[in-house]
Amino acid sequence: MDIVHWIEQNLPITSCTSDVFIYDDMESQSGQSLPVIYKPFDANQASHWQDRGQILDYLCATDGREKRLLDFGPGDGWPSLGIAPFTKEVIGVDASMKRVEVCRANAARLGTTNAYFVHIPAGEALPFDDESFDGVVAASSIEQTPDPKATLREIYRVLRPQGRLRIWYEALNRYGGGREREIWLSAIGHCTCRLIIYVRDIAGERTEQYGLTFRMSREELAASLAPGKSEPTYGDLSIKTLDNLRLQIVDVRKCALRHPSAKTLATWLEEVGFSEVLPTHDGGTFARRLYDHVPIDRRPSDIDGLDAVLEPLVGIAVELAAPIGLDPMITAVK
Ligand SMILES: C[S@@+](CC[C@H](N)C(=O)[O-])C[C@H]1O[C@@H](n2cnc3c(N)ncnc32)[C@H](O)[C@@H]1O
Repeated sequence: MDIVHWIEQNLPITSCTSDVFIYDDMESQSGQSLPVIYKPFDANQASHWQDRGQILDYLCATDGREKRLLDFGPGDGWPSLGIAPFTKEVIGVDASMKRVEVCRANAARLGTTNAYFVHIPAGEALPFDDESFDGVVAASSIEQTPDPKATLREIYRVLRPQGRLRIWYEALNRYGGGREREIWLSAIGHCTCRLIIYVRDIAGERTEQYGLTFRMSREELAASLAPGKSEPTYGDLSIKTLDNLRLQIVDVRKCALRHPSAKTLATWLEEVGFSEVLPTHDGGTFARRLYDHVPIDRRPSDIDGLDAVLEPLVGIAVELAAPIGLDPMITAVK
């Protein structure tokens, strides 16, 4: 019998939304890796160029300087806390109260006074007036909601005419070639851990995720699933082992999500009412490539120097059309 089938038949499963499934339990959902928000900016790190290029992407694509922006699903404050210094005000809305608390704490630590974070229960209407934002940014969040098309409808409602939405999203094509089923083990404290099983229907643009919480450490679970391996893979799972560990399983959750491709997103955006839908190149990838071409002695030494170099170029990159089949970032204009 298939493992997922066995879980469905033998374990008491609770269905939940993604905020409950995972985001409420994470101290940092970025692993505290974000430059500026968690780490000092280092102009000699390619990933810091990429992240800075991405912040400037959201800023340029929404034309967000000195404007009022909404960040849908900010996680640890990404991109809201990066773009806040350039905007009049940015408001982050997240379905996970834990994430809202983390964003608020990060804003306070950074001394950011024009970024506000609000909790909205998953699936509820946004608590804002019609046409009350100049721009909206959404990073890997629309596909985490119970009904992504309804989420786009709400975003459209709160955006002013000619306002721009800039979306980063996780389409499933990148998981082709054997990654349709994967697992991830994470520690929750010292004596508890979670096994997440991802089941990806790439053609159907949907995922099902099963989260099994065990009363044992991550190391103990890894050793039980695959003796001698610290990072077990889906292929290491067996019904026999899970059955033997059954008494250690204290919680079983399932979360089903839509993961639209760029083509599906573009269709939804048009149906919701956006007048222009523009799949484009993105500032993060551009900045990462530029890093490789700038000799060390010509690299800007600090973040202001890098911004001065990047911003005009990123402004061009976000206007350049990219093939929709590559699932690029999308700008939608109301
Ligand atoms: C993959 S994380 C992305 C976080 C951040 N934007 C980033 O790129 O690092 C998804 C975020 O969306 C939030 N989220 C999930 N469902 C939501 C909903 N229905 N409404 C608002 N936020 C939601 C999660 O709590 C989480 O913070």
